[in-house]
Amino acid sequence: MNILVLGSGGREHAFSWKIAQSDHCEKLFIAPGNAGTASAGTNVDLQVNDFEGIKDFVVKEQIDLVVVGPEDPLVNGIRDFFEAQSELTKVLLIGPGKDGAQLEGSKDFSKRFMERHGIPTARSRTFTVESLDEGLNYVSSHPTPIVLKADGLAAGKGVIISETPEHARETLKEMLVDAKFGDASSRVVIEQFLAGIELSVFVLTDGSNYKVLPEAKDYKRIGENDTGLNTGGMGAVSPVPFADEDFLRKVDERVIQPTVNGLKKDGIDYKGFLFIGLMNMGGDPYVIEYNVRMGDPETQVVLPRIDSDFLALLEAAAKGTLDQASYTTSPETATTVVMVSGGYPEAYEKGNVISGIETASESLVFHAGTKTGEPGQILTSGGRVLAITGKGSSVAKALENSYNGVEKISWSDEYHRGDIGQDILKLLN
Ligand code: AMP
Ligand code: GLY
Repeated sequence: MNILVLGSGGREHAFSWKIAQSDHCEKLFIAPGNAGTASAGTNVDLQVNDFEGIKDFVVKEQIDLVVVGPEDPLVNGIRDFFEAQSELTKVLLIGPGKDGAQLEGSKDFSKRFMERHGIPTARSRTFTVESLDEGLNYVSSHPTPIVLKADGLAAGKGVIISETPEHARETLKEMLVDAKFGDASSRVVIEQFLAGIELSVFVLTDGSNYKVLPEAKDYKRIGENDTGLNTGGMGAVSPVPFADEDFLRKVDERVIQPTVNGLKKDGIDYKGFLFIGLMNMGGDPYVIEYNVRMGDPETQVVLPRIDSDFLALLEAAAKGTLDQASYTTSPETATTVVMVSGGYPEAYEKGNVISGIETASESLVFHAGTKTGEPGQILTSGGRVLAITGKGSSVAKALENSYNGVEKISWSDEYHRGDIGQDILKLLN
């Protein structure tokens, strides 16, 4: 098969690294890709929302399967676009249409979906500028902490946890009246704070059948011990020891089955990944959010734990034959540590020369924000630059392999967290 992966992050490098290992992979392209994806396939200078450009390329290169990495083109309707083009009707695509992508594109839609299908989640109400006064009263009559969420996509920044009613009221006004997140906060979901341990479960579905992929825990804050600003993710660990068989069975019965069945009942033909952010509250799962794609950097620990042909699984999902597919998982632990540019998630430098990648042989080096420079040079070109994945028979051994890799790689303003996985090690002791 000829495959096109859309995106340019560590997730897309992990996808292309895994897909390239398949015997069924003939040509592999990544658009726009990064310096790492260039070693798994061929980078193409096309942006993920340039649907016309993507169409021309798909036709010219006889692409059989398109794997959409980020949420943006899904929310913008890339599947709907493909389905409307007579030249593209035979092309397989991983990712839901505009309707299914609302699970990530609108928090209000996803809350209503969960309510409709009896999926456990925090109690919530949605407010607009017209119902501002009601929203302010709602905040005052509910205990803090309380969670305020911009309805639309806000680059991971649209969730604010307020510790006091005053702060919550101020925040609600900023979001609805001052358009703090632009159009994304013209509707605000206010919900109950859920206390517990977070983890993420990944599902690949063809709309009727599904496979549960390895679960993962990520580390969102920039600072050690989960302090400071939120980021796209600073590290991840899979498997998650507190997600035991009993808990994962509850997730399957109470969350995954009603979600897949709910999509079907609502007439949404969903072919793609579902990333379910969960809170484990006293052994019971509650959904925090849905994403309609894989996570980054979670993909960099999930895919290294899949032993079988991942492309075969993707093909089955896109064709609607996942019931006939099977896959095997490695019992090993995988951990990843994200190396970022100093200053991230705020302003940072680009263009610094990275050294030592080739010497980090005990780990898998996934590129996120990199580009090629002079011959033989790799330069930083984003906030999250590399994700260094280690594997091992225990969390400690996997972390050792990740951090040994991290120690060998450097550039002038590099930063990473030194405590990825430490909370899990403590839980295990
Ligand atoms: P989201 O974008 O919905 O994933 O929210 C970002 C982060 O905010 C989550 O990963 C949680 O850490 C936190 N969060 C969101 N909703 C809640 C909630 N209801 N209770 C506690 N924490 C939450
Ligand atoms: N690591 C979180 C995400 O991909 O949204």
